[in-house]
Amino acid sequence: MRDIEMDSRRDVSIGMPEDSRARKPQREVLEWDEQAERMASLGRIATGIAHEINQPLNSLKVIADSMLYWHRKGKPADIEKIMENVSRISAQADRINDIIQHIRTFVRNQTPVDPRPCQVNVAVEGALALLGSQLSSHGIVVKTCLDPSLTQILAVSNRLEEVIINLVVNAMHALDSVERLEKRICISTRQAGSRVILEVEDNGCGIGEELRGRIFEPFFTTKPIEGMGLGLSIVHSVVTSFQGCIDTVANADCGATFRVTFPTYAGHAGEGAQG
Ligand SMILES: Nc1ncnc2c1ncn2[C@@H]1O[C@H](COP(=O)(O)OP(=O)(O)OP(=O)(O)O)[C@@H](O)[C@H]1O
Ligand SMILES: [Mg+2]
Repeated sequence: MRDIEMDSRRDVSIGMPEDSRARKPQREVLEWDEQAERMASLGRIATGIAHEINQPLNSLKVIADSMLYWHRKGKPADIEKIMENVSRISAQADRINDIIQHIRTFVRNQTPVDPRPCQVNVAVEGALALLGSQLSSHGIVVKTCLDPSLTQILAVSNRLEEVIINLVVNAMHALDSVERLEKRICISTRQAGSRVILEVEDNGCGIGEELRGRIFEPFFTTKPIEGMGLGLSIVHSVVTSFQGCIDTVANADCGATFRVTFPTYAGHAGEGAQG
């Protein structure tokens, strides 16, 4: 486990040195923190993207190489087989295109925008579209239980997606560290009166009692190599910026469950009317 005070990377790679933070006006420090936050998210997302694109790219290479191989051997496939391979190539290219389109939307939305009514279920589907094949290649089964009658919340859709991506990637890492007959991530949404609840649950290593109070601290990580310890602090700041709250709750499978609660859009409108 790394500790915030002991981690020299804090200053070197993404944070601002403590003494210069002290000299900076508050607004600049905030801007710097936002920039650091964005860079960290970008790194995490870039790793996911590389993985997502690598798979269809490998398939393209295998199909094309096998056609070339048989052609060089003087045994070209018949036209039907060639057309079948061409359509497989086209499908893989479509898959890469989908991923790129998705990333474009995500990046375009990085500039600060006002919260709008949005649907948590759509953000869950967006996050899974980005992470789906990575999860299955880790042998993880994803189950979703999304309430179709969920009401909208007031948020920024790509930030919401980022929250879910961070929670799911953490769950994936927790599952990578254990042996299980079935590695599972369950994502559910439900309505509870004037609140919308999102839960991301896994049957991974779980979070020890002694760590629960620290996991939302910036730069707190138990991952010796790949972790920066920023994911959950970003999640926390995004969720609270939409008037929501996040917590961990007990999980019957000894894994971790993150529960995120948002007020509904109608709830916000009601507040506005009163205020
Ligand atoms: N689903 C989970 N199961 C078990 N432990 C978890 C889970 N999610 C988070 N944690 C614990 O909380 C710590 C902090 O998580 P956080 O996402 O902030 O950082 P990280 O995943 O270590 O690094 P980063 O997200 O910056 O790459 C993790 O190092 C891990 O110990
Ligand atoms: Mg993380």
